[in-house]
Amino acid sequence: MIRRSQLYVPATSEKMIRKSVELKADSIIFDLEDAVPPEDKERARESLIKLVKELDWGKRELCVRVNSLQLLDSYKDISTIAREDKITCIVLPKAENDLSFLYKATGKSLIPLIETAKGLVKIEDIVRSEGVVAVSYGAADLSLSLGGDYNFYEKNVYVKTLIVSVARTYDVDAIDKVYFDLKNLDGFRKECEEAKKLGYVGKQVIHPSQIDISNEVFSPSKEEIEWAKKVIEAYEKGKREGRGAIRLDDKLVDYVHYKIAKRIIEFQS
Ligand code: COA
Ligand code: MG
Repeated sequence: MIRRSQLYVPATSEKMIRKSVELKADSIIFDLEDAVPPEDKERARESLIKLVKELDWGKRELCVRVNSLQLLDSYKDISTIAREDKITCIVLPKAENDLSFLYKATGKSLIPLIETAKGLVKIEDIVRSEGVVAVSYGAADLSLSLGGDYNFYEKNVYVKTLIVSVARTYDVDAIDKVYFDLKNLDGFRKECEEAKKLGYVGKQVIHPSQIDISNEVFSPSKEEIEWAKKVIEAYEKGKREGRGAIRLDDKLVDYVHYKIAKRIIEFQS
């Protein structure tokens, strides 16, 4: 499953749910948590299921962000969506513990969000749970939980690196956080590029205008593909001649470059 862009769509908005069918997000996250006021949760669950059933979603991944497990609403969310086969994935906000029970109970894949102090400390227990396919984080909730400042935490490279490290350790996707400034598409692109350099494979997005940028940045570029083909060819030739390290365009190429090149080509296919 490719997750270059994961679009949040408020479960209360029939208009946006219908619109999301036409959009090119790799994955859609219908939100029952913070995009839905408490008094609308019941209605949102019902109308979401009705629309998910009615519309043709093709092959894209459909997820639902449920309420956090500390709230009774989450259990209502989970039991409602567990019955709908088109929804294959649960996004779990404010995750703080092993989630294997949720996978066992529902059979749905899981994407935990790290957004509390405890979630950050227990990140390994969370990400290695059965059924987890990706991990992301929320800078606003995290800074609130840590008693810090949002503008400072949204740029915190320690948090970003920790999340990718744990994701790579347990072989799940690291997906970068949402970017709230809808007008600033240059800032959005820059954040995508920085996330990619850290090892993230995609970004959670909140508006249609962010989708193409995210898809573009998190796809291998023409230059990356050309480089990868060259490295694979040169490395395999060297290997046949009994060499594990070769000189290519005046740079050392060995097994690690070969593996990086392979990953770029595999992404394409
Ligand atoms: N999913 C699907 N369609 C969306 C969308 C989304 N997340 N955000 C906007 N659209 C649609 C609008 O309905 C509109 O459609 P139209 O051209 O057919 O009328 C079009 O895209 C342009 O939208 P725009 O008018 O620029 O946006 P807005 O000002 O109405 O809404 C937000 C801005 C932020 C309220 C809206 O983008 C949104 O609700 N995003 C998701 C929020 C969310 O889920 N948050 C929880 C996770 S942080
Ligand atoms: Mg949050």
